[in-house]
Amino acid sequence: MSGSMKILVLGGGGREHALVWKLRQSPRAGTIYCAPGNGGIAEEAECLPVDFKNLDSMVALANRLQPDLTVIGPELPLMLGVVDEFTRRGWRTFGPTKAAAQLETSKSFAKEFLQRHRIPTAHYAICNSMDEVGDALPHFHTPIVVKADGLAAGKGVVIAPTKDAATTAASDMLSGRMLGDAGSRVVLEEFLEGDELSFLVVSDGERVAPLVAAQDHKRVGDGDTGPNTGGMGAYTTKTIIDEQMRDWLVTHIARPVVAGMKAEGAKYKGVLYCGLMMTARGPMVLEFNCRFGDPETQPTLMRLESDLVEAMEASIDGRTSDGDFKWSDDAAVCVVMASGGYPGAYQSGKKITGLEDALKLDGVKVFQAGTSHHDGDFYTAGGRVLGVTARAPDLQLAVDRAYEACAKISFDGAHYRKDIAARALKKT
Ligand SMILES: Nc1ncnc2c1ncn2[C@@H]1O[C@H](COP(=O)(O)OP(=O)(O)O)[C@@H](O)[C@H]1O
Ligand SMILES: [Mg+2]
Repeated sequence: MSGSMKILVLGGGGREHALVWKLRQSPRAGTIYCAPGNGGIAEEAECLPVDFKNLDSMVALANRLQPDLTVIGPELPLMLGVVDEFTRRGWRTFGPTKAAAQLETSKSFAKEFLQRHRIPTAHYAICNSMDEVGDALPHFHTPIVVKADGLAAGKGVVIAPTKDAATTAASDMLSGRMLGDAGSRVVLEEFLEGDELSFLVVSDGERVAPLVAAQDHKRVGDGDTGPNTGGMGAYTTKTIIDEQMRDWLVTHIARPVVAGMKAEGAKYKGVLYCGLMMTARGPMVLEFNCRFGDPETQPTLMRLESDLVEAMEASIDGRTSDGDFKWSDDAAVCVVMASGGYPGAYQSGKKITGLEDALKLDGVKVFQAGTSHHDGDFYTAGGRVLGVTARAPDLQLAVDRAYEACAKISFDGAHYRKDIAARALKKT
């Protein structure tokens, strides 16, 4: 730590651990604060309590710390307008305003925006009532994707195999039974087939700097079976997409989104996460997130060789450029170790052992998510507990190294997928 910048990171999961770890490497970083942080982050930053549901709580924290830079992990603070409020008070903050964050906080806003700007996305209908659902359904083939409009922490999407199932899902959402206000409007969507890809850029409201693409593994079980989770693992390689595809995604998706938001008076600054389906008809936008992904951030930042603070400052100051990020050609893989029962009910407070042995392995970093630390030991404190991440010259090596590390770590009830990046390995 040679710099003097006070940096505040909001969040307390594996993504925020990776952000703290990378930001700390900047020659400009001084003290790093993380709120609320977690057991592992506490080894690399000063952790402080905060309530994300409460803008005043975040303002009070920043008022006390007077950070030179604030970085926001999760979507909720963005939805509440933390960037608008902090910026108004003179605290430099990386991320989109509340208006720009609508790309994530309202799926109907995102779909209509995509249509207005002719950016490829699945055919859809926005419905405010069961009558509207009834009118729209005959125009869809099955399966039908039913999405709650608002933020639902990964629980707002149902892939309905039949029209009856779609009707039931839409009714559960619209009645408020399933997700409260987040489901008061639904989007019906054509089902797309293909590989999913997370393509992220950082923007200053005008220009974009692409990050390397990554692939997440959402389902809890091997072979993409079982219920959806927050994400059970991710990988990134130099070859996940070729340069031509990267340029296509920048030209036909990322830049038009940023230009469209500017034209509509809500300049998009910060990370724009494009969730894509790579279909036979070409890439299509499934959704946007207005922040880094979890767990894609963990392997992605392992490959980052340039200064993250600098790239974030460029976004804030309006001087983002295409080459703001320099990447290693290495592959990186993150395997999430979760609590027994996750994504359903799970127990906490289980002692975690073997972390030190895992960290001795070459290229391995364990990003902590749901953990706490007391009396020299780490304990589980959430559904997703650890993001065991390895960087190596090729994907096979990175996968082997990550699983070697997982094998050294244990806690009661621990489970993790054994096939992270397996489909990519089969293709090579
Ligand atoms: N149109 C679609 N066709 C096929 N699968 C979809 C479609 N939309 C979403 N999905 C699947 O559902 C998951 C969650 O949908 P997404 O729009 O990303 O919502 P969220 O991340 O807010 O839950 C996606 O990662 C994808 O696997
Ligand atoms: Mg998603």
